[in-house]
Amino acid sequence: MRFDVLTLFPGMFTGPLEESILKRAQERGIVSIHIHNIRDYATGRHRITDDAPYGGGGGMVMKPEPIFAAVEAILGDEKNVPIILLSPQGRLFTHEVAKELSRHHRLVLICGRYEGVDERVREHLATDEISIGDYVLSGGELAAMVIIDAVTRLLPGVLGDPGATFEDSYAWGLLEYPHYTRPAVFRGWAVPEVLLSGNHAAIARWRREQALKRTLERRPDLLEKARLTEEDRAFLARLGWKGPSSSRSDT
Ligand code: ADE
Repeated sequence: MRFDVLTLFPGMFTGPLEESILKRAQERGIVSIHIHNIRDYATGRHRITDDAPYGGGGGMVMKPEPIFAAVEAILGDEKNVPIILLSPQGRLFTHEVAKELSRHHRLVLICGRYEGVDERVREHLATDEISIGDYVLSGGELAAMVIIDAVTRLLPGVLGDPGATFEDSYAWGLLEYPHYTRPAVFRGWAVPEVLLSGNHAAIARWRREQALKRTLERRPDLLEKARLTEEDRAFLARLGWKGPSSSRSDT
């Protein structure tokens, strides 16, 4: 899979992409990540990439010409590649969106900066607009890195253990169960007995129940869409879960 990132701050990407899983995924040829400086596509002696907003007001707006020129140069004749604008106004990035994006062979990510990006980029160039959360970042760069990371780890061959993504709580729509490693007792705090029992069925049940309990306590909203078995529902009911909210009727 190929990522092309358009940014005014390419230096922000050195480091995060060169460690750990993203580094390995690139070395194995599973992903290639290309960082492009929007300024390289600006014209004129000063290579200006932003300007004052029409209508007045503070701040600067990113100009459309260098962004269009960059995308057109990078994609050439290639069609059907998602061109994603990162902004707080976009649709919310979730595990489902990561899965959807991971099915493409190529993605273009445009990192907005300053007060905003000229609306014509949004209307006539971008095919999608994504926000990584309900807060405002200084620009789309960190959001682009989040998307690259979350999408890359879903690609076959990136994680060592093929069960790893499958077991991810979010794959089931639940939060993670607690993890423990040696020592069995640390400062008097013991690892739950069941994990030392060697009884794999009991361990699987305990983990599932812990994931359900944690999700109910911290993110009950996730239970609305989670893939739950009858046994899960019975367990949650014993913890006081009232079931999917009455606005939904698909259970
Ligand atoms: N740019 C600024 N804030 C952002 C956010 N929350 N998500 C994506 N891009 C952004």
